[in-house]
Parts: sequence; structure tokens; C-alpha cells
Amino acid sequence: MKFRAIMGALCAAGLMCGVATAQAAESVEVLHWWTSGGESKAVGVLKDDMQKQGYTWKDFAVAGGAGAAAMTALKTQVISGNAPSAAQIKGPLIQEWASQGVLVNIDSVAGDWKKNLPPEIDKIMHAEGHYVAAPFSVHRVNWLYINKAALDKAGGKVPTTWPEFFAVADKMKAAGIMPIAMGGQPWQDLTLWEDVVLSQGADFYKKALVDLDQKTLTSDKMVQVFDTVRKIQGYFDSGRTGRDWNLATAMVINGKAGMQFMGDWAKGEFANANKKSGSDYVCAAVPSTEKAYTFNVDSFVFFQQKGQKAATPGQLALAKTIMSPEFQEQFSLYKGSIPVRLGVSMDKFDDCAKKSYADEQTAIKSAGYVPSLAHGMAQPDAAAGAISDVVTKFMNSSQDSKSAVAALAKAAKTK
Ligand code: BGC
Repeated sequence: MKFRAIMGALCAAGLMCGVATAQAAESVEVLHWWTSGGESKAVGVLKDDMQKQGYTWKDFAVAGGAGAAAMTALKTQVISGNAPSAAQIKGPLIQEWASQGVLVNIDSVAGDWKKNLPPEIDKIMHAEGHYVAAPFSVHRVNWLYINKAALDKAGGKVPTTWPEFFAVADKMKAAGIMPIAMGGQPWQDLTLWEDVVLSQGADFYKKALVDLDQKTLTSDKMVQVFDTVRKIQGYFDSGRTGRDWNLATAMVINGKAGMQFMGDWAKGEFANANKKSGSDYVCAAVPSTEKAYTFNVDSFVFFQQKGQKAATPGQLALAKTIMSPEFQEQFSLYKGSIPVRLGVSMDKFDDCAKKSYADEQTAIKSAGYVPSLAHGMAQPDAAAGAISDVVTKFMNSSQDSKSAVAALAKAAKTK
């Protein structure tokens, strides 16, 4: 009898099922919010890798940019005792979940992570001295995407300051092009607002949104931030209510609109539509933020299964795969991000990703590398939510900038 046949017979008799067979039986349930064209392609790489390793992938995708709906679904699942194997969680929320005692540690597959991750990101993956999260990639949030043909009609010069931006927007308008494609959800409002905060300088951004310094939050510069946002709003179309970010990106892709403020997951949509940076579209730092970089690092955490404190083989395989150089490269090529793992070759990446990488290095050296508030990297949930409410109220009413600033200072005290 051949070895496989012997093993098969033993296994059928209820004895000695090999490791591979045991793994094949494990299914990993994965909760995430990657549902747009580019996002699905990117998460599909992980699904395929896991299936190749013999695991069954149970997809629990909850649509909704930036994950608010996914986070609500996750809470319900955990409370009802059905925690998924892995969930897309990032920033301080990792520590918040860890403090509930529901996560497993993945130290056994993270032996070489410390030397392969930027220190500020390595720290975020830890809780109480153990690795509890695996990082996918680095997204830069402060990007402006511009349709190339629309830009050419508006004079062809990429705006680097707000006055230049408004001049381009006016020219697009005069040429019959909708200047800005904007979606209509609180996180999209907050994404634009934090871009404008960053345009006052990385130091201002840090004091305001990381330190929540009251003097900075109530400063004249903060009033100017709200004034600038109000002015930008003058270039939105009336159909933005409820519009998803990727539908706004599609408007720039197909030339219905000229520009979009969005993190580089938008680039995943351009790539998915076979559009090329440089000839079809241009990626540029948000005006006056060239030297700064708002980072947003996606990661998975792993939940205890059936009360077991140790990670299952499937969870360890997920974590290990996510940090492998091959996966890091292919995932980011589809996602629009850059690998978070240091030393992964950038050869296959486009100009925008190469710029992201170069700008990241510059920003790290010049203290311009700051966590995104709108994407869960800068503050715990409660404070971020309170600030988001202030911005959404401002952007959906005729509130004046000074009273928004007063509300902001109050919201920043939320614990
Ligand atoms: C996530 C990205 C995602 C985007 C839109 C961000 O918060 O970090 O991975 O593509 O939201 O859903």
C-alpha cells in the first residue's frame, strides 16, 4: 500500500489524520470592508493564498468605506459569541479590542517583524508586549487625484497651493467640467477636513489632532481650516449625499469630474479600470502638504475561537501570509498602497506608489509622518467620533467657522 493510501485508510478509521488533513478542515472566517473593485482584487490575493495552503475562506465582507458598518457588525458578532477568526481593525482600536481579553497573540509567526517594520507601525501591532495584529500595507491619505484630460483643459499645471487649486477648479468649471467629485458620508467629510488641517503644517496637524491641544484647536489657523473647507464645498455637485467614495472615483476615472480628494485606495480603482498614472490621471499631494504624509495602515486582529487563548493554525497562517514579501507586493499592487514590510522591491509599482514611498521616507525624516484621524490611526474611537460629528455638522449646514471651532474644542475633550 502506498503512503497516501495508508494514511487515508487510517484517517477513515478515525486514526492519525495528518497535519495537512487537520488544516484542510479549518475554515477561517474573515471580516473586512474591502468590497470595491480594487479592494476585492486585493483581498482576493489573501483568499487564494489561504486556499492554496488548504484552508477554507469564509468571507464576511461588510460594505461601507472606512469600515463604520463593519465595526458595528463585528461588535454584534463578538457579543453573540461568534467572533470571526480575523477582522480588519487598525490603530488604537487594536489596543481597545485587546483590552477586552478577546484576542490571541501571534508572536510565534512574528519573529522577524520588528526588524522589518517601521518602529511606529511595529508599536501599533502590539498589545501588552505581544503581537496581536498583522499589517497589510501603508496608505497615504493626503492625495488629490486629477483626471489628466480635465487638467489639460484647465491649463495643465498641478495645483500645489490652495489659490492654485481654486484657479484650476474655476477653469474646470468654465470648461463645463464638474471640478470636484465628492462622496457624501461622514468619513469622507473628515478625510477632506484632515487634509486641510494638514495643509497648515504637520506640526499644526500633530498638535491639533494627535495631542488635541486646546490652543491649537481654537487658533485662528483652525478657523481658516473651516473657511477653506467651506470654499472647497462651493465646487461640489448637488448629488453627493450618500455617494460612495468609489463612485466619486469613477467620476474622475471617466471624466465626469476633474478631481477627488482621497487616500490611495482610490488608485486601486484607477488600476482596476486599466488607467495609467501620468497619461490618464495624475496623483498629487493635497495642496500645501507635499512634505507631509498622513499614514493609514490596515491590519487584521485575531479573535479567540471557542474560548481558546492560543491562535489556531489558520490564524497563524493568515498572519504569516499577510507579512510575507510576496503577498505584500501583490496586495499593494492591487490596493493602491505600498508594502508596509521594509525591503520589498518597488520595481513593479507605478509612479504614484514610488512617489508615496519616497515621500514617506522624507516625511519620516522631517517629522512630517502623521497618523490619519479619519482612518482610525490618531485617536481612540470616542474622540475621533466626536470630532467627526463636528465636521459633518459643519459640512452639512451653514454653521460659521468660529462656532465650528468652539464645538471642535469641546469634542476633543471626549474620553
Ligand atoms: C481603509 C482602506 C479602504 C478605505 C475605503 C480605509 O479606512 O484603510 O483599506 O480601502 O477605507 O474603504
